[in-house]
Amino acid sequence: MSLKIAILPGDGTGPEVVREALKVLSAVAKLERIDYTTEPFDYGGDRYLATGKIVDEDEIEQLRSDYDAILLGAIGHPDVAPGILEKGLLLRLRFALDQYINLRPVKLYPGVDCPLKDKGPQDIDFDVIRENTEDLYCGAGGFLRKGTPQEVATQEMIATRFGVERCLRYAFEYCRRRKASGAGKGCLTLVHKTNVLTFAADLWFRAFEEIGDADYTDIERDYNHIDAACMWFVKNPEFYDTVVVPNMFGDIITDLGAMIQGGMGIAAGGNINPDEGGTSMYEPIGGSAPKYTNQDVINPLAAIGALAMLLANSGEPKAGERVEKAIAATTPKLESLAAGRMGHSTTQVGDLVVAAL
Ligand code: IPM
Ligand code: MG
Repeated sequence: MSLKIAILPGDGTGPEVVREALKVLSAVAKLERIDYTTEPFDYGGDRYLATGKIVDEDEIEQLRSDYDAILLGAIGHPDVAPGILEKGLLLRLRFALDQYINLRPVKLYPGVDCPLKDKGPQDIDFDVIRENTEDLYCGAGGFLRKGTPQEVATQEMIATRFGVERCLRYAFEYCRRRKASGAGKGCLTLVHKTNVLTFAADLWFRAFEEIGDADYTDIERDYNHIDAACMWFVKNPEFYDTVVVPNMFGDIITDLGAMIQGGMGIAAGGNINPDEGGTSMYEPIGGSAPKYTNQDVINPLAAIGALAMLLANSGEPKAGERVEKAIAATTPKLESLAAGRMGHSTTQVGDLVVAAL
């Protein structure tokens, strides 16, 4: 059966990095004999500016029913007010396709400069599992007396037992797989703020303890307050194995995670719907980088890493691993991971990965 991939290059540097990822896909598909098809979609800032359309129900339904996975470049256009495309397209797809897991590996590849003193690839290799459909991202809240001196604004942090539980179970299972493969020690860290967010964090913490006691006694449980996690990501990253975190805090700590793995140029993420028939979406997490657009200087490794995750999660684990290894063989050849300072163009970095395959 052929793997059907929807391609959403999106805005800014998105198309350039997606082009390199597709080059790698074509190469690895030959080597691993993967039968696949790709179909491009022009959703993003340019289409919105030209037609006023972001993405509608039918288009979402098409992604859901016709595709196994989505590869996304970047969303965010300099001529579109902030929030419109992010909420209207990126978050819309995450919610509508019920991609309730946002999987973000934090891995320092060989030869990459790490801003943390004396830390190397053996110290930085953990996975963050960010809940992706609840919390402050639900858009619940509102204004009262807007625009007056007595204005009130609320923004609600929503945690449902159902949403938290499915995320925690995915994280426990993930941690168990990491342990079985020898990549992790079998320790799952919950990150929240139980000392202040006494309702939402309490639900998370109780569910964590109950599910762990009932079904995952082989997994060690650890808990960090979010502020402490920020400190320890920097001080002792080697401690972490698998981290599970609600949406908003997960957004923040995965940018910190991206920096300790060498920057946005290498940080990939998967918006995953692990349920039967679910359509997942993989993306470099760095954004559209308008100032680097069309200069052939942006780093495509994050998009190529997103492709590796796509393959690994779409029934092609060997191909995923092969791409991942090719990335690890490429990083030592780059002067830096930063746009314009790689010592290679975007195209050349894609070529290096293909050669390493
Ligand atoms: C991310 C981004 C998005 C988020 C934005 C663009 C809506 O920061 O993928 O981490 O907050 O989730
Ligand atoms: Mg973010």
